[in-house]
Amino acid sequence: MNDPNGCFLDGNGTWHLYYQYNPTGLTAGNQHWGHATSPDLYHWTNQPIALFPPTPDDGVFSGSVVVDANNTSGFFPDQTDGVVAIYTLHTPTSESQYIAYSYDSGYTFTVYEGNPVLDIGSDQFRDPKVIWYEDHWVMVVAYATEFTIGIFTSNDLKTWDHASNVTDIGLFGLLYECPNLVQVPLWENGKATGELHWVLIISINPGAPQGGSISQYFPGTFDGYKFTPSDGGTRISDFAKDNYAEQFFFGTKADEAVSIAWASNWQYTNNLPTASEGWRSVMSLPRMNYLTKVERTGWEMGSLPYGIDAVRSRELSYDGDFVNKSVIVDYSNVTSGALYFEATFSLPPVKNITGVPTFNLTFSAPGSSDKLRAGYIFGGSNAGIGWIDRRNTSGYGGDDPLFTDRFSVAGVALAKTISGVIDRTILEMFIDDGAFSGTSLFFPQDKFSNLTLEAQGMPDDAKVTIAVWELNGVWDNQ
Ligand code: FRU
Repeated sequence: MNDPNGCFLDGNGTWHLYYQYNPTGLTAGNQHWGHATSPDLYHWTNQPIALFPPTPDDGVFSGSVVVDANNTSGFFPDQTDGVVAIYTLHTPTSESQYIAYSYDSGYTFTVYEGNPVLDIGSDQFRDPKVIWYEDHWVMVVAYATEFTIGIFTSNDLKTWDHASNVTDIGLFGLLYECPNLVQVPLWENGKATGELHWVLIISINPGAPQGGSISQYFPGTFDGYKFTPSDGGTRISDFAKDNYAEQFFFGTKADEAVSIAWASNWQYTNNLPTASEGWRSVMSLPRMNYLTKVERTGWEMGSLPYGIDAVRSRELSYDGDFVNKSVIVDYSNVTSGALYFEATFSLPPVKNITGVPTFNLTFSAPGSSDKLRAGYIFGGSNAGIGWIDRRNTSGYGGDDPLFTDRFSVAGVALAKTISGVIDRTILEMFIDDGAFSGTSLFFPQDKFSNLTLEAQGMPDDAKVTIAVWELNGVWDNQ
């Protein structure tokens, strides 16, 4: 599988995730819309395939889903929970936008007979994301090779008018893909202000600074027809390499901007070693997103795991005074193999710090030289840098020059929190309430079962706390 598609929350509280899915192979191709549902975005039930390509040469490419509560489309005279999917039909010679409707809350779809609903005669025009703006529908869609996001409007999801373009912003890469336009809550000093702010997200592939595919985002204003970026900055969603084609859920509360991303990279996704187990690719954790201002560089979109308590279980380790200490947490008896960790830091301003305080995490397995490391530097010329190092995981990467293995990010202010989730083949790390996040796949030879935490070189008046929890498996009851 690859991109998440049509993510939405239905009126009964069920989360729906569709995704790019090849039912006949473990590499991308023969694209269908797979479908899974969940009460909490962690425990998933696989559902039958939702959308099929009309011929074997075509693909149902990425898109989005809306609930047409007011029957603007005319498909739903007798219900308020009608669902419409808007997606790209990719053929060997064209890409145009199609719609399909569902009477049963998104489990089965009927393809609209009047398709395509938007066709500009291009073969590089894809990934429509539709939202509701006050009194009309708005679509953002990528003119992939023209580095342009088109904004279209509609009253009925069937007829679309061109409203404006956003052209040539940020990093181009070789393609613009999977745009999203969303309002996210504004935070100040770690707290929601009650205000919302618009953000345009554009995925690029290849051409990420780290190599391959990445999403970039632009805070801005939107008047229902035209998007204007707030500043000239280009910001990327993740400092590692496995976070792409992020999609926001339709139907969430106004003050909750929930997203999920494909946790992989087009540079190596089709070669990763899990194929021997009959699967390839995972999604990121569900994320709650917010926008905040950080020192000097301004806008930053932060993200944290959404509703992690749905799986958080036993506390394995806690220390409220973890200054200049280290601890090894043995989690070999955690059946899911997954952990959630959180550390908090209170240090003097960086100009008053002498030496180089560090916080380090090392995941390892007894008797194996494989390890995954991550950390943060609190002093010296690299103060404010967070990093992930997957170079010593020998199950994949040694022969692949594109499986970049070390990543870092710099903030001006020192981080006050570092948290994250490690699962069998993925680390998601959140620095300073997720103002910066790193999503990184790794493939150890042996399953990791030890976590070493270290806080060294800390000044005497530093305060550091750490906590580690076991996460429940999410497939246990299926
Ligand atoms: C992004 C992407 C989309 C396209 C889909 C095809 O990863 O290339 O632009 O719709 O994947 O699977």
